[in-house]
Formats: sequence, structure tokens, C-alpha cells
Amino acid sequence: MTTSQRESLGVGLLGVGVVGSAVARALLEGRTQQTVPGSHPLVLKQAVVRNLESERPVPRDLLSDDVASVVDNPDVDIVVELMGGEEPASSSIRAALKSGKHVITANKEAIAKNGDELIALAEANGVRLLYEAAVGGGIPIIGPLSSDLLANKIQSLRAIINGTTNYILTRMTAQGEAFDDVLADAQALGYAEADPTADVDGWDAMYKIAILARLAYGASVPLDSIHREGIRPVTASDIRNAATLGYTIKLIAVARLEEGGLLVRVHPALIPNSVPMAKVDGVLNVCEIEGDLVGPLWLQGRGAGPEATASAVLGDIIRVARAPKTINPPRKLSSPPALLEMSDYECQYYLRLVAKDQPGVLAEVAGILASRSISIDSVLQMDSNPEAGTADIVLTTHPAREREVQQAVEQISAVSSIEKFASLLRIEPYGDTPA
Ligand code: HSE
Repeated sequence: MTTSQRESLGVGLLGVGVVGSAVARALLEGRTQQTVPGSHPLVLKQAVVRNLESERPVPRDLLSDDVASVVDNPDVDIVVELMGGEEPASSSIRAALKSGKHVITANKEAIAKNGDELIALAEANGVRLLYEAAVGGGIPIIGPLSSDLLANKIQSLRAIINGTTNYILTRMTAQGEAFDDVLADAQALGYAEADPTADVDGWDAMYKIAILARLAYGASVPLDSIHREGIRPVTASDIRNAATLGYTIKLIAVARLEEGGLLVRVHPALIPNSVPMAKVDGVLNVCEIEGDLVGPLWLQGRGAGPEATASAVLGDIIRVARAPKTINPPRKLSSPPALLEMSDYECQYYLRLVAKDQPGVLAEVAGILASRSISIDSVLQMDSNPEAGTADIVLTTHPAREREVQQAVEQISAVSSIEKFASLLRIEPYGDTPA
């Protein structure tokens, strides 16, 4: 059958913001027919916006402010959800799937929170639910985990998947600036949202690693099983101390098979300067995948931005346009790995204490660590403040169990010569890579 004989498929857009506009333009220009001539022609049938008066690259007669005009529209075969946020997006996706429409979405929150249910609903209704744009913007990561890498046992996923925090940490590292100053500037430049919580407190990265972990390990990964910390507590002096020790601080999202199961965690970490991840700067994202057959993979690119995200959305649309009847449910294992708790995690730690600069303080701290079998790897005294009579003590440990370290921190915080327990950061293990 030639292209011209193939039935066209109707597309309905929910949301015409910056990504939606890039997708709409591509559809209206016929880009998908030009790049993949054998596929079903795609016709934009309707686009739903919040405000009908705003300027959009979509003919006025195709615009509506009613979600039902897409979700209940018999001429729409593919619903492209780009509204973001859990609701009303999840309900719209649910309704579209139930009425037999394929759904393509960039919505990490909806897929992280309701993915198990929505994936099952798509399967039950014989339609596709695709979400390449939900993680890593333009980086193809859902596709490889959903198909090309299925023969592998995935040992680990380790990623920088939040551009905003990577931008902030990169500036703090390069220029020694404080978190609040860089955040304010990033907001003024449009790199950070007015309400930065989702990014800086690690929610966005948590949604994304939950989605990747579900695909990689064939397991349901409830959000409350994921350890989440953001970058607000990271100070310019932590970044400086890390540099002195040969590390760069990054917000990382990791899903890795450890002894006894799968641990999923999001937190700032010290990355050895000798590994490539330490050099992934600015708004770039990267995902390292380790599969038993394929070995290590490295996918780096633009994790956000209208064109890069539209690339992922359009790729999914083309998947449907080429083979609308092909349904490939994601891998779901009958006995997935157990989900581990952070308290069982073992790694090297970076600890910073603000202590009275007087004899015996270090000995007391060392005694507490020794009593819990936590072995010290290095000690630095930094940032002496003669006026206050304090100094920062920076310790790194040999591998230790999180539970033990947290208990030691509590004990150290109670010592009278310790003014403040300032930072606990983890050093990311990299096999035999020297720090
Ligand atoms: N807010 C995200 C980030 C981009 O900073 O990476 C969209 O997922």
C-alpha cells in the first residue's frame, strides 16, 4: 500500500505551550510524512488551550478550550498530552485510553504516579501509551529501555536528569557563587521556575528515575520507596571542599541492583573528577546504563527545550503512524527485585562539621565514628574563623552503612564543641575508578 492510500490518523493536542507549538508546527508542515514517507499521514484535528486569545501556531478553527473536544472526538486517533502536572492530565490520558485512542505524553509526574494503572489501561484497550519525552527531553532513553535493551539484565541506571539543578551546581562550581544567588539569576534567565521546588528539591528527578526504573527492572517503583534529597543544603564551601578532594558535586538519580535488591535514590553526590559524569555541565542531561550484555552505555543530550522535547514527542507520534496496531507492553517481571531502603546503602561519605577550634574536638568525633566501625579516609580543616573561634572539619570515610553514619551524625551533633553538623554528602562509587 502506498502512503497516499494509507488512511490518515487524526491527532489531538492537549496543551500548546512551547513544546506543543513545536509539535503543532511540525504536524502542520507535514514533517512526519517527509521524514517517514511510508507511514500513515497525520492530520492535526484539534488543539486544546487554556486561553483561546493567546497567539498560537494553530489555525483558529482548530483551537478549543475543552479537553473533551480532543478526548471524545471521533476524528482523533492519537492524543498528545502536553499539559504537565498530575491533574487534569492523568484523567485526560485515562479517558483517551478508555475511548480507544493512542496517547503520547511528555508528562513525567502523571507517568511516575499513575503509570502502572495507565500502562495496564492502554494494554487492555489495545492502544499505545508512549512517553519518550517524559525523561531526558530529546535523549532517546525510554525507547532503548523498552525495546533495544530488553535482552539485558540492567545492573544500573545512573543519571543527571534535571537540567535546572545541573545548571545551578555548574555555576556554583565554576564561580564559587552561593545557591540562593545562582537560583535567583537562573529564575531571571528562565532556567528555573518561579516556584523552583520541583527541580531543586529533587521531585522532578525522582519522577524521572521512577519511570526509568520501572522499565529497566520490570517492577512497580512506588515514589515513596525512592530516597529523595535536593540541592538546597549544598553550599559553596561544600563545592570548594569537594574540588580540593578531587570531586564535583552533581544531583544524581540512580537505580541500581545492590545485594538483596534494587535501590532507587536521588541526592547530591560527590562525583570523582576522573569520570565523564563530572564534566556534564549546564542544562545537559546524561544517563549511564549498565546492561549485562551490552556493557556500559552513555546517552547525553538536551534534557529540555522545545525542539529537543518535540523531537521525542514526534518520534513517538511516528511510531504510531508507522504501525498503529503494534502494541508492545513494557516488561513486567513476575518476580521483580525487592526494593531496598536507603538505610541499607553503603558508600563513602563526606561530612562537614563546624567545630570550636580547640584541642580534643577531632579526637571526640573520631571516637564516635570508631565506636560505630566507621573508618576515616581523610580529614581537612578548612575555613577557620578566628573571630568565632570555629573551623570547618571535613571528613571523608571509607565505605560505611547509611544507618550507622546517620546515627553517628546524631551523636556528633550533640557534642558540645560541635557548633553545627553542616553537611552529609555521599561519594558516588565508581568501581575501581580512582578518586
Ligand atoms: N524541569 C526539568 C529540568 C525540565 O530542569 O530538567 C523538564 O523535565
